[in-house]
Amino acid sequence: MSTSSPPSNLHLTAVLCLFLHAATIVSSTDHIVGANKGWNPGMNYTLWANNHTFYVGDLISFRYQKTQYNVFQVNKTGYDNCTTEGAMGNWTSGKDFILLNKAKRYYFICGTGGCFNGMKISVFVHPLPPPPRSSLAAEHSSKNSAASAVYGGGLKVIWAVLGLFVSIWCGSSWI
Ligand SMILES: *[C@@H]1O[C@H](CO)[C@@H](O)[C@H](O)[C@H]1NC(C)=O
Ligand SMILES: *[C@@H]1O[C@H](CO)[C@@H](O)[C@H](O)[C@H]1NC(C)=O
Ligand SMILES: *[C@@H]1O[C@H](CO)[C@@H](O)[C@H](O)[C@H]1NC(C)=O
Ligand SMILES: *[C@@H]1O[C@H](CO)[C@@H](O)[C@H](O)[C@H]1NC(C)=O
Ligand SMILES: *[C@@H]1O[C@H](CO)[C@@H](O)[C@H](O)[C@H]1NC(C)=O
Repeated sequence: MSTSSPPSNLHLTAVLCLFLHAATIVSSTDHIVGANKGWNPGMNYTLWANNHTFYVGDLISFRYQKTQYNVFQVNKTGYDNCTTEGAMGNWTSGKDFILLNKAKRYYFICGTGGCFNGMKISVFVHPLPPPPRSSLAAEHSSKNSAASAVYGGGLKVIWAVLGLFVSIWCGSSWI
């Protein structure tokens, strides 16, 4: 039970944790389709989508019973007609995270028939506005995510604090 050796592993862990935490905070917004109702029949996902603003780099995530439903990325025809021919992608894990990496309109439907019962969603992904993004994000984005609020202005502060922390740690441990 040594107490004299420098707890460098603890320091390293602390820094890594802080770094990861900061990375999490500044990462993009995750839009959970249907919020706590998830991806299920009988919803109007147009209402949900209208309540969110999507930017390039955001995630959209679908949570559902994987034995019953799934997610297909389709074009407008597929969305309108609930068809999956020529789908651009499909997800079946029950907890799917999909990166919205282009500024365009995306269409997702359920490929097991749920589409006919409302399981279809269309979202328009905006290009990243020039910085600062904070005011836009805070105004328009979902209020369920603190990430939105700190995305713009808070970013600099976070990195500054992180930098300070790292330099203090490096100063005391390495020199
Ligand atoms: C969902 O809500 C939108 C916006 O109010 C409306 O235009 C649309 O008809 C609704 N869709 C269904 C299937 O009720
Ligand atoms: C829209 O967002 C507000 C504020 O977060 C929330 O209270 C409301 O339930 C949302 N409506 C829908 C249809 O998601
Ligand atoms: C989609 O449905 C509409 C109307 O239901 C129909 O006119 C159209 O031909 C369909 N398109 C395809 C590609 O099946
Ligand atoms: C969507 O994809 C289908 C199948 O590849 C194709 O027949 C249809 O023309 C496409 N619709 C649009 C609007 O691009
Ligand atoms: C689902 O996607 C995989 C590749 O990710 C593809 O091989 C498969 O054919 C797709 N399934 C359907 C039904 O489109």
